[in-house]
Parts: sequence; structure tokens; C-alpha cells
Amino acid sequence: MTPDPSFFTLHRDLPREGPGRPEDVHWALYAAAVPEEARIADLACGPGADTRTLAKARPGARIEAVDRVPHFVAEARAAVAPYGARVTVREGDMAEVTGPYDFIWCAGGIYFLGVTEGLLLWRKALAPGGRVAFSEPCLPPRASAAAHAFWAEEYPAITGIEGIRRRVAAAGCRVLGERMVLGAAFRDYYDPMARRIAALRPGADAALGGVLDAAETEIERWQAAPDDIAYALLVVAPE
Ligand SMILES: C[S@@+](CC[C@H](N)C(=O)[O-])C[C@H]1O[C@@H](n2cnc3c(N)ncnc32)[C@H](O)[C@@H]1O
Repeated sequence: MTPDPSFFTLHRDLPREGPGRPEDVHWALYAAAVPEEARIADLACGPGADTRTLAKARPGARIEAVDRVPHFVAEARAAVAPYGARVTVREGDMAEVTGPYDFIWCAGGIYFLGVTEGLLLWRKALAPGGRVAFSEPCLPPRASAAAHAFWAEEYPAITGIEGIRRRVAAAGCRVLGERMVLGAAFRDYYDPMARRIAALRPGADAALGGVLDAAETEIERWQAAPDDIAYALLVVAPE
């Protein structure tokens, strides 16, 4: 699947495609008690920043990363090349994985399926005792009215943490751990994108200009009120 060319002009070759840091991966591996020789999936892996962290953190694991965008698959393959044949990256649909996996990691991707829908699919791909960690946009308890209005338009399914817990329960899963992804994780995502926007702005056509404007608005909103938006990272298991 090839994304809209203007969107992709902005998004290709960035270090990552959503907020998150290596310590979030480490926390999830610990919270999910992922064994050393686990079978791990990184679904919607994007350019593979977290695939690399998983590979480093679990040197005995077999890791399969999946993304539907060929260019991201190529970027992720390059990122994990040093880890050899135990780490593979393939082009595919994360809705169709069969596993079995001991641990499914999905940073900033489950919203393409819906939290409940994604978990219902993925639980079938889990080995007995397997766990899923995913991150999902989340309105913090004290998010402003302006943040509610902005995100309701950008992502109508957005809720606070209670709403995410309800979507997890609707998939017959229980929450083993929760962590808010905030601050530096957003900076790591937005700073390279802001530099890319500045570089692309001169000479951008109308379509690209629209993509740059939308991304800039999102970044400016975060810079002005960084506590108005978070990603919730949850480790869950089938009941
Ligand atoms: C917000 S990005 C997150 C990427 C990466 N996890 C990261 O944090 O850098 C979402 C990713 O989901 C991928 N994606 C969306 N729908 C997908 C699907 N059905 N199957 C596989 N990948 C998908 C996109 O290509 C994109 O790379």
C-alpha cells in the first residue's frame, strides 16, 4: 500500500512515526514479563525504531515486524540488519497476523483497526500466556476544552484512559500495566518532523502545503500545551 504522496513526502525517512522512547519498550517488556526467547511481533512497525529496541533488549528472541508500507519495511529492514536472521520485517496487514506470538508490540498503530477490534484479532495470534502492548492517543484528565475539540475532529474515537480501558475490556482482555507517554517522547517525534516541514516549505505545491500546515498545527498545539495530549501505553492479556 502506498500512502498519499504528499503525506509520504513529509513522513518518509523520519526516525519514528509516532511518540515513544526506548524506555517505553523496556517498561512494556518488563510489565508483560516477556521471556528471553520469546516470539515477538512489532505490528505497524513503521521505520523500525522499536523493532531495533526489541531486538537489543531481547537478544534471544525471534522478532517479526510488519508494516503495510513498502518504504517503511525497507527502512525497518535497514534498522535491524545488525541483528541477523532472527529479526525479520515483512510487508503485510497487521489485521491478518497468525502468530503464535508470546508478545505483540504495537506503538501508535492499533487506532487503524480500533482498540477492541485489534485486540480481538490479535488475541487469536497469541500463544498461551501471551500478552499485547499497544499505545493509543489519550486525552489526559485535565485536557483543555480546546484539546477535546481539536482531537474530536482529528480522531473522533479518542477518549481518556477510562475509555481505553473499556475498549480493552470489550475485547475480553485485562490490563496488566499502564503508562502515559508524554513530554520527551513527543519531542522526539515532532522535532525531526518540524525540521522536515521547514525544509519542504519553500516550493511546496498546494497538496504538500496542506499536509505541512496540518502537521504544523498539530506540533504547535503540542508545543503550546504539552499536557493536553498523551499516548497511553497498556500491557494487556486475554481474560
Ligand atoms: C503512526 S505510525 C507508527 C509506526 C511505528 N510503530 C512508530 O512508532 O514509529 C502507524 C504505522 O501503521 C502502519 N499501518 C497502518 N495500517 C496498517 C495495517 N493494516 N497493517 C500494517 N501496518 C499498518 C502505517 O504504515 C504506519 O507505519
